[in-house]
Amino acid sequence: MDEIFSPIELSDEYKVGIAAIDREHELLIGLYNGLVKAVKSGNARDMWDDAFQRLVEYADQHFANEERLMTARQFPGYENHKRQHDNFVRNLHELATERTGQDEEQALKLLLVFVGQWIRGHILVTDKELGEFVG
Ligand SMILES: [Fe+2]
Ligand SMILES: [Fe+2]
Repeated sequence: MDEIFSPIELSDEYKVGIAAIDREHELLIGLYNGLVKAVKSGNARDMWDDAFQRLVEYADQHFANEERLMTARQFPGYENHKRQHDNFVRNLHELATERTGQDEEQALKLLLVFVGQWIRGHILVTDKELGEFVG
């Protein structure tokens, strides 16, 4: 688990080429990096609820923005892309359910592994496809 539990360097690799979307991705990566560092340095006590709340709010706003853009541009990959967004939100809530009884730090670590995989998978692949389409 530890090799994927590491901060993400904010490089051009993560740019999809749509300024507003890139700014929102930077916020997510910043949130993720801050939490990873907190866990690694043993300063992550009582951070789960706040992290979860921020991720839910982020997903709410950011996914709506991307989906609005896809609709406006009649992006042909809309359904697949939206399904991934919906899965993210569902998985996030599943992690919240599973958290009960777990050690706080361990639960936060699991949450961050999930978010890290999302950033590395969804942004680098699916969001980039949208960026290329919008051009
Ligand atoms: Fe995105
Ligand atoms: Fe997306």
